[in-house]
Amino acid sequence: MVDFMAADLNWSSLGFGYIKTPYRFVAEYKGGKWNDGGLTEDDKIVISECAGVLQYAQTAFEGLKAYATQDGRIVTFRPDLNAERMAESAARLEMPLLPDGMFIKAVEQVVAANRDYVPPYGSGATLYLRPYMFGSSPVIGVKPADEYQFRLFATPVGPYFKGGVKPLTIRVCDFDRAAPHGTGHIKAGLNYAMSLHAIVDAHKQGFDENMYLDAGTRTFIEETGGANFLFVTKDGRVVTPKSDSILPSITRRSLCYVAEKYLGLTVEHRPVELAELSDFTECGLCGTAAVISPVGKVVNHGKEICFASGMNEMGKVTKQLYDTLTGIQMGKISAPAGWLYEIK
Ligand code: PLP
Ligand code: COI
Repeated sequence: MVDFMAADLNWSSLGFGYIKTPYRFVAEYKGGKWNDGGLTEDDKIVISECAGVLQYAQTAFEGLKAYATQDGRIVTFRPDLNAERMAESAARLEMPLLPDGMFIKAVEQVVAANRDYVPPYGSGATLYLRPYMFGSSPVIGVKPADEYQFRLFATPVGPYFKGGVKPLTIRVCDFDRAAPHGTGHIKAGLNYAMSLHAIVDAHKQGFDENMYLDAGTRTFIEETGGANFLFVTKDGRVVTPKSDSILPSITRRSLCYVAEKYLGLTVEHRPVELAELSDFTECGLCGTAAVISPVGKVVNHGKEICFASGMNEMGKVTKQLYDTLTGIQMGKISAPAGWLYEIK
């Protein structure tokens, strides 16, 4: 049983929350190999009380979206890159790699089976896909599990930040998210557990998000709990922080390509010092969930850094990037080869 029939959903008022859809994909790894996997209507998981995921957080996930295009197709955006990143996460957490093609097969099957839940073109909502893998068999000594599940479910979502495209206020965070040589570059559940106290505290203090610094020197900008940063300089260059401990965002990589090839801007991907913040005129958070959410102000221990784009609307370059990327995703603007993967 689903909680809501697709016909009863008000697409344009959706927030970023979980709504159960009818079908999800499950594959199991046992005895050293994956089964073929397939769709199920059962949204419940029964595992050992001592499962690797419960005891030692042996789990990683991905996030991507399915979109209804202007001409009535359903597409996903660069799912091959999510599959690649899932493989990197699995390898780093000593989980088995998926067989070739299984990730994309799961995306295809889940979107096709839940196609009524793909929000209509122009509604502002999308179908968010959540692939994940976890250790399901018992472990008590600290070691990788012997058995795993790979799952993928879908849930229709609206904007990640309430208020949609209203600029956010964020703070420089005193907690760290990822250590040098740690797991910041993969999508491990443990990175998000690390960030929960920091985000609850940020919200209590009236901030929308945390700006994490590099844990080693606390002088370079890393990312937020769920998105990479993108800055625009006074002379219109796009700058994104480079670090081994941030997640290589597919949205950020796509936006940099769009900036260069569609908008003719210069792009710099390099370490960015906290001290440089006041040189930028625009700031955005980029990710699948965040798309590109404008930041109006960063507060560094009481000192405010206000971007020239202000607190009322997206900056000019951020808006161009947003319009071009979402235009590509919704089929309004021609996409680079391989970016849109159609679901039949
Ligand atoms: N950084 C973190 C920590 C994230 O959780 C995400 C979300 O996936 C991103 C960045 C953005 O990555 P992507 O654009 O691939 O969704
Ligand atoms: C995504 O953008 O897909 C993410 O995974 C961010 C998440 C923390 C909601």
